[in-house]
Amino acid sequence: MPVPHDDAPAEAVGPLLRGVAVLRALTAASQQQLSLGDLARATGLARATTDRIAATLARLGYLRVDGRTAALAPALMEVGNAYLASVRLPDLLGPIADRLADTLDESVSLAVPDGAGIRFVHQATRRRTLSLSFRIGDLLPLERTAPGPLFAALWSEDDWRAWSARGPEPFPALPQALGDVPDLRVRALAAARDGWALDDQLIEPGLVALAVPVHDATGALVCALSVVSHTSRHSAPDLRAALLPALADARDTMEAVLRAPTGRTGQATSAASPCTGRTATAAATAASKDELGADFIESLARGLLVPTAFGAERPELSLSAVAEATGLARATARRALITLEHLGYVTTTGRSFRLTPTVLELGYAPLSRLSLAELAAPHLADLVTQVHDSASMAVLDGHDIRYTARVAASRVMSVRISVGTRFPAYATAMGRVLLAALPVGACDALLAGEELRPLTAHTLTAPAALAAALDRARADGHAVVTGELEDGLRSIAVPIHAADGRVLAAVNVSMHTARRSLDECRATVLPALRAAAARIEADLAVAGRFAPTPVA
Ligand code: PHB
Repeated sequence: MPVPHDDAPAEAVGPLLRGVAVLRALTAASQQQLSLGDLARATGLARATTDRIAATLARLGYLRVDGRTAALAPALMEVGNAYLASVRLPDLLGPIADRLADTLDESVSLAVPDGAGIRFVHQATRRRTLSLSFRIGDLLPLERTAPGPLFAALWSEDDWRAWSARGPEPFPALPQALGDVPDLRVRALAAARDGWALDDQLIEPGLVALAVPVHDATGALVCALSVVSHTSRHSAPDLRAALLPALADARDTMEAVLRAPTGRTGQATSAASPCTGRTATAAATAASKDELGADFIESLARGLLVPTAFGAERPELSLSAVAEATGLARATARRALITLEHLGYVTTTGRSFRLTPTVLELGYAPLSRLSLAELAAPHLADLVTQVHDSASMAVLDGHDIRYTARVAASRVMSVRISVGTRFPAYATAMGRVLLAALPVGACDALLAGEELRPLTAHTLTAPAALAAALDRARADGHAVVTGELEDGLRSIAVPIHAADGRVLAAVNVSMHTARRSLDECRATVLPALRAAAARIEADLAVAGRFAPTPVA
């Protein structure tokens, strides 16, 4: 994938173009990681340039560089989040789509047109073994989908010409060998006449989809609402007969929301702060430059600040508003916007700028597929490097904790535990943190059915003693268990919270008691453990903003 900047306007920021090329190459790579050498080859950039870009992107939190390997990092999703927040469709319409999915027990999605494709901005997915499941940010070829003809129904002759001249775009979400596709013009005419469109197994054998258009208060088509099923449940004609009324009802509810005053895409307000939660500004990039020197490409970092200036209260911004929000000089902000427009990430109407769904191509779909355990793994590895003892993540599963991630310290004496291992929650530090987070009634009910067996001579087996230990875990925000699961083993654990405050998992460090006293453990391990938990929670907040992160 050579760097696409031959046709870039003269004022475009070269380093920003090259940085985006690196992010796109990593998005296209299997596992979203490449050696720095392969990254240089994939982008056509010089190796030294690639290294400096990778160092800059790593500093921004968008890449993780481990030795010679670069991988996309979840913080990059804040760029896509800025688009999703600013377009407001997921926030306003997502809950209605979720309710429809529950009612129908089928997958429901919202998609917008994006060049020669449709891109998903919301997914309410029912897990089925038989079909593909798509994520927010996935792009499908428009002519193979149900929403496609609805969008094409509004095309001008220029749009059709652009469509005919389209290049061979990659569609990474698409399965390989696909059959013939019916004429899009014919389907677009039918969609305009009927107000709905079907995909009868054009994406994948067995996959059928039905879509209707959703309009805003001005009558503009803003997205398509689709229900996706499988031929084992509905043939395509049957899907339309059975589900069109419910789909049309949900669409009417969505259009009513978009007509309500809060549903309008508000005018840009210049005073509000960007919604991304990051305080990244020009001042921060300058500080990074001071620290990293020649390895930090400030113009790339500055350019990537621009998308995060957009948000729910700031869907459209003038050049001055972008400069103000980012702290960039007007001329710098202008060149960044020109570059982003060239890349297709920004569009202009008059004097205002908006993000486009194409920014979601920067890693959004693959990063949103990461589970909580996968988000946690690099942070647990960093923690192990700091404390030289093993670190793990576990979830509550009935009366047990179940390990979902584990990074072993490379010491001969380390405890052998692997992902999937279960232990009784009451006798472990992670279990106590997880039990302590349950509503009191639920915790009592869970423990009422459980015999507290002594696993060692130290296991707390008196219900009152366990209740006191859980109270302490609640008050302290951590739990320590020494020798209750196994003699000589100490574990210290803290909870992992979702952005809404729910405890989803626990992380711990486990060690032999001879390694540190209890006080030393609290003094040295706990701060490192808490910091790792905070980094995991920060990734989770970005990754889970619009799509629930799979927990295990
Ligand atoms: C489609 O193939 O048209 C399709 C697939 C998945 C969706 C929506 C539409 O969520």
